[in-house]
Amino acid sequence: MRQPLVVGNWKMNGSTATIQTLLEQMKQGIGSVERTKVGVCPPFVYLSQVSIALGATNIAWGAQDVSQQAEGAFTGEVAVNMLKDFNCAYVIVGHSERRSLYHESDELVAQKFAAVQAGMMIPILCVGELLEERESGDTENVVKRQLDAVLNLAGIAAFEKAVIAYEPVWAIGTGKTASPQQAQDVHAFIRQQLAKYDNAIADKVQILYGGSVKGSNATELFSMADIDGGLIGGASLKADDFLTICRAG
Ligand code: PGA
Repeated sequence: MRQPLVVGNWKMNGSTATIQTLLEQMKQGIGSVERTKVGVCPPFVYLSQVSIALGATNIAWGAQDVSQQAEGAFTGEVAVNMLKDFNCAYVIVGHSERRSLYHESDELVAQKFAAVQAGMMIPILCVGELLEERESGDTENVVKRQLDAVLNLAGIAAFEKAVIAYEPVWAIGTGKTASPQQAQDVHAFIRQQLAKYDNAIADKVQILYGGSVKGSNATELFSMADIDGGLIGGASLKADDFLTICRAG
């Protein structure tokens, strides 16, 4: 039985004040979440604040990205050991905004994935197709290519301690959600790809759905057999909305 996981990706939003309010509200409401493991990924500069606020709770935290380099002259980058220093549990790698706006290749994403695991944190590997790729029937090819880059570098065993997030790019921040069946089909495909190498690992890995998840559609999405929770952008910025989604897990 896979435990549901819901992770908030705050992206480049918030301030010390708004984040403090959000954290207080989450702490007050988290008792109403029964089964689901919950995490939040703030911008790097707020990790200290978040780690202090959530330290004594069962809410985990993580980062939205990381450098593949260990340390050195890489202006503006943040290393795995720095994230460990702030007790991050999770690190998102390969978010579609990083892939498209910052031209991160499949190979670079795979290197980041491996670096996060070497640092004993859990990578949340994002995969997903563009609208034109879906329309031309390429969804499975794209997702397979993105997965294969990580499998080739890190191997199947790496997925024992990893999370995958399927996020169709056309559904991110657009208000357009994949239908539960559309999402389920891709989730099942991802699990099948891993099962070619190892059934037990394929069965165990949590696969989250991301892309315009809201309180109103979370229950239906999370009830699908291969959807184990969500990676939540916009709706994770309001405690009420986010906690409603967490309770749907
Ligand atoms: P969204 O973002 O929930 O705002 O669509 C999801 C994500 O990018 O992870």
